[in-house]
Amino acid sequence: MVVTEGDLLPDPTKGIQMTTTIATTASTATAASSTSQFLSPVVLGLQALTINGKQAHWHVRGANFIGVHEFLDTLVEHAGAWADEAAERIVALGLPIDARVQRVAEKVPATGAPAGFAQSTEVIKGIIADIDAVIADLEAAIEGLDETDLTSQDTAIGIKAGLEKDRWFLFSHIAE
Ligand SMILES: [Fe+2]
Repeated sequence: MVVTEGDLLPDPTKGIQMTTTIATTASTATAASSTSQFLSPVVLGLQALTINGKQAHWHVRGANFIGVHEFLDTLVEHAGAWADEAAERIVALGLPIDARVQRVAEKVPATGAPAGFAQSTEVIKGIIADIDAVIADLEAAIEGLDETDLTSQDTAIGIKAGLEKDRWFLFSHIAE
């Protein structure tokens, strides 16, 4: 490029000068609000599962102790990752989520995890009840997002598949 007098050269100390407005998201307002509506309960339920899963992990006793104790930690790890995935889908569409502990406690049904030491069968039944509450929210999300945002629906479908697999791993400890 030949530079002649009068050409404006970019100032390397100033960075790129933005001449266009960048939208918060490429998605629509309807997709964003629907995603927030249906994925927020999923995030809260999964965050609760990370806490109540640890409660169960610490206090389980009895049959299959090591297997149940260790798998509950795997479940906690998965629940945290899925909560992150669902929350970041909402945020990617430009909306916030209130997932503070108080909010989680207000919105999520009481856990089935016992308060103290408990036999593994009781612990497993309690955590499966918690999982089923999240699965119900995921089913509502899959249904509700079908018309509004297929990408968010895909997030819900993926999480549901993983959670159902973990439910199977837990249930198999007590299955006849
Ligand atoms: Fe541990």
